[in-house]
Amino acid sequence: MAQLTASQRAQRELAPVRLTSEQLAEMRRAFEEELVKGLAMHKKHGLKWVPEECSFRMLDSCVASVPTGDEKGIYYALDFGGTNVRAVRCELLGGGKVKSQQNIKNLAECGGALDLMARDTTASQLFDALVECICELVDNNKEAEYLKRNPTKLGFTFSFPCVQAALNTSVLEAWTKGFATGYNTDEPVVGKDVVTLLTAAINRKGLGVECAAVVNDTVGTLLSCAYQKQPSTPPCLVGAILGTGSNCCYVEPEAAAYGYTGSIINVECGNFNKRLPLTPVDVIVDEKSPNKGQQLFEKMISGFYLGELVRLLTLRIFGDAAPAKVKEEFSLDTKQVSILAAAAVPGTQGSSATTAKCKATIKECWGWEVDDETIKILEDVAFAICDRSAALAAISIAAFSDRTKSLEAGGGLTVAVDGSLYVKNKWYGERIKQYLKDMLGDKASRLVLSAADDGSGKGAAVCVAAVRTA
Ligand code: GLC
Repeated sequence: MAQLTASQRAQRELAPVRLTSEQLAEMRRAFEEELVKGLAMHKKHGLKWVPEECSFRMLDSCVASVPTGDEKGIYYALDFGGTNVRAVRCELLGGGKVKSQQNIKNLAECGGALDLMARDTTASQLFDALVECICELVDNNKEAEYLKRNPTKLGFTFSFPCVQAALNTSVLEAWTKGFATGYNTDEPVVGKDVVTLLTAAINRKGLGVECAAVVNDTVGTLLSCAYQKQPSTPPCLVGAILGTGSNCCYVEPEAAAYGYTGSIINVECGNFNKRLPLTPVDVIVDEKSPNKGQQLFEKMISGFYLGELVRLLTLRIFGDAAPAKVKEEFSLDTKQVSILAAAAVPGTQGSSATTAKCKATIKECWGWEVDDETIKILEDVAFAICDRSAALAAISIAAFSDRTKSLEAGGGLTVAVDGSLYVKNKWYGERIKQYLKDMLGDKASRLVLSAADDGSGKGAAVCVAAVRTA
């Protein structure tokens, strides 16, 4: 049998990545069924997650009401949950206005010599590094002494699955997104209340802030959008993150009937595991992760994994023709994937400048000087992976939007979206919108996608403010 060309091998590998509308419709049905099961699970078991009953954790955010935009005051926020750590000083001015200052650091920078995600790093080492990020912001504002005399409330966005019995306590159930901090130490994070860990680190530094609320980033994004949005836009009832990880929260119309304290549910839908059309590279990504068998949906969607999926497909397509560097795990990051994918978006005119940029990207990550045919294949691979991510993200947005019952005639809702994949790539958002139109038909016109501007950080501050004025 004649050997296949690289381009033929690419077509063969990409066929299962390109999902048909029938496959998407079937997944959407399964996703919606899972949501119904999840509500029933919460009603029956309360705070306890029973994975055999539902892959979603359906966590109570304990946030009972969406802010009005009138909340005022100065609050601090700490946002931790992926590639960046962010300390934020928010001045809520009322009328939906916020003045904010930030200290953003990537995780590596924040940890210095320590790898904050590693299993040998202890809980106190992690939380000390996080608090240091707040201290720098406080010092920049020369506010340390003032805060000691006038302790200020802090909202903590902690973007991992946590069980909350109240707004100011939050027990980490499991790490996601490649984190393994504390696993090999006698100071774990999993199973602990992150407010206690944060407060201990705050006290070690003698910082005058007090953690008053913990929110997931999806919840923070929803709250921040609800605070800042124009009164003329429809209510914000869904929060989505499409970044290092992926997840959604939504306002459940019958939350109380299902036993919730709050009305916003952090679904943790990244763990969805029904009817997933997993390809061989999805299976490898999962097997190599520290949370094998978990977060399968997230592993097909979010930024932490997209580079690996493209890299593994590249190896399958090019085999030994690819340089050794391609064999190195995590040698391609999401930003680089986005550059490649943007060149293959249908309807875009490829230019020689775009091709040159893509070739330079491949040279940079893999030291590989590629010809025109090879770069075209790599662009197609990156696009197919990102487009599948957009389609799956659309399934979750469509399902939660429908569930709020606000898409009926005369209704409408805003979906707040944060996360670098979405915020930094306009074409990715356009693909999601296209898929939403295919899935929802006319109803899609009643749905507004709103990019949150640092939603997850500001949202925690808004949450603290809303509690104080309640
Ligand atoms: C992961 C976390 C989830 C978070 C999401 C986005 O899925 O488990 O809590 O919302 O990443 O950061």
